[in-house]
Amino acid sequence: MAKLEDLFEKNRRWSEQVRRQDPNYFLELSKQQAPKFLWIGCSDSRVPANQIMDLPPGEVFVHRNIANVVVHTDLNCLSVVHYAVHVLKVEHIIICGHYGCGGVKAALDGEDHGLIDNWLRHIHDVYRLHKDELDGIEDMGHRADKACELNVVEQVGHLSDSSIMRQAWSKGIEVSVHGLIYRLEDGLLHDLNVSRHGPDAHDRPRPSN
Ligand code: CO
Repeated sequence: MAKLEDLFEKNRRWSEQVRRQDPNYFLELSKQQAPKFLWIGCSDSRVPANQIMDLPPGEVFVHRNIANVVVHTDLNCLSVVHYAVHVLKVEHIIICGHYGCGGVKAALDGEDHGLIDNWLRHIHDVYRLHKDELDGIEDMGHRADKACELNVVEQVGHLSDSSIMRQAWSKGIEVSVHGLIYRLEDGLLHDLNVSRHGPDAHDRPRPSN
């Protein structure tokens, strides 16, 4: 059985190692956070935002739930987005799915999984929207992979159409929403090329000067 003491031991060693390299590291970091990225990803233990992007503490604001879903009535997710956009002023919001997502697979298999099925309804909606395309893929593994991609694409749309993003863009706040997918087998991120830079899907990022 995993022991909590081991966690404390690992934590102590990590803290010491970081402070050996930079004695003021934690003191400086404790004064403020100014992340440029908000990550909305899956709760899956194999998809940790900071490690995947090789970013240290302080560089990415994170929200995770099962199958990286953005729901317009989810106050938890909306509060994170609101704080990230209006207070932290992140420049990029990354919605990142991953191939082999258990949540997406469970939403497609039609079996009873208990309470979580209520959450998975949101992914089932993605399946209904793209039923013809998904049913046309015979290989179930490939079908699930495509569903993982389409789930990200739909969530990018949900977030971009949210009142928070529409307000932010109408105020001229420069923030983009991106859809990425991660492959567990090789640890690589892929851009699904569905980025949004404004309320219109064709809005382009402003040239920085
Ligand atoms: Co997942």
